[in-house]
Amino acid sequence: MRKRSRYKLLTYFAGAGLITFVVTLVLNNTIRLSMPKKTPTPKELYDVISPSTYRFILNQPELCLKKSPFLVLMIPVTLKDTEARTAVRRTWGQYGLIPHVTILHLFVVGQPAQSDPLLQEHLEKESKEYGDIIQMDFVDSYHNLTIKTMMIMNWIATFCQDAQYAMKIDADIFLNVHYLVDYLHGQGESSRKDYITGSVISDASPHRDSFNKWYISEDLYSDTWYPPYLSGAAYVFSTDLARKISWASRFVRPIPLEDVYVGLCLHVLGVKPAYATRFLGLRNLFEVRRLKYERCTFAKCIIVNGFNPQNLLRIWHDFQKSYNTC
Ligand SMILES: *[C@@H]1O[C@H](CO)[C@@H](O)[C@H](O)[C@H]1NC(C)=O
Repeated sequence: MRKRSRYKLLTYFAGAGLITFVVTLVLNNTIRLSMPKKTPTPKELYDVISPSTYRFILNQPELCLKKSPFLVLMIPVTLKDTEARTAVRRTWGQYGLIPHVTILHLFVVGQPAQSDPLLQEHLEKESKEYGDIIQMDFVDSYHNLTIKTMMIMNWIATFCQDAQYAMKIDADIFLNVHYLVDYLHGQGESSRKDYITGSVISDASPHRDSFNKWYISEDLYSDTWYPPYLSGAAYVFSTDLARKISWASRFVRPIPLEDVYVGLCLHVLGVKPAYATRFLGLRNLFEVRRLKYERCTFAKCIIVNGFNPQNLLRIWHDFQKSYNTC
């Protein structure tokens, strides 16, 4: 009798052990399948995009604290883009465009490869006058846009956590601020956290032809697909993501494609970019093609791509005057 009960106990233990083993195995596998491997990037590679590598030349550390904005527009430009900055300040970047909704804009600038003391002096004057410029000491170039984007994420995470949304938007874009604010108000609770939207690009694969503008070597990125990402022209996100994307960048090796890079960070976080479409997905609200100006078409878009400063100024007056009659 005693022998038998001992035997029974032993089977129980063995059974429980087996079940635990199987469950752990299954769980481990599902986790491995659904989450990408997190291996920290070697230090010398991470340093290229790490915020601690670069210093501020111009900053606005108090701006957000004073205003607690609903939305902050972060606009990458270079030192010489004076005209583009002026156009943005006079159009979609102007203060007080939407009553009772605080929207701030900030231009994010690096340094030219060859220093230009005269332009730099001009920029510092502009910064004093408008208080809307951040400058850091990395070299501004197409290849370095990933650095700039990560500096934007770091700036939001450090100086602007109180804002509800941030938007990265290029200066050569038409932004329908009215529609954007309505759209964000309409998204409700689910857009307060882990939310990012824009023109989603899915099923893209790396260009392996070295003459292509978006060429990427297999050494830098070996996978045959990119995870879904947002066109770099303009995307909006809940500000909590800035800190999370900055964190995730420790595990993603820098590549010179800034929009894909953010997509890779989102993939590490398990955050899926949200589509912004109308008419059952037939119309993209973030119109990254160039469209001829037509007031009522533009009234139904959040962004339209491809405007030089003169064209932006030219259409803005007409749009503002009567977009709400469409
Ligand atoms: C990117 O910025 C770094 C830091 O300023 C600089 O050393 C490097 O030359 C830049 N790369 C390009 C391609 O401009």
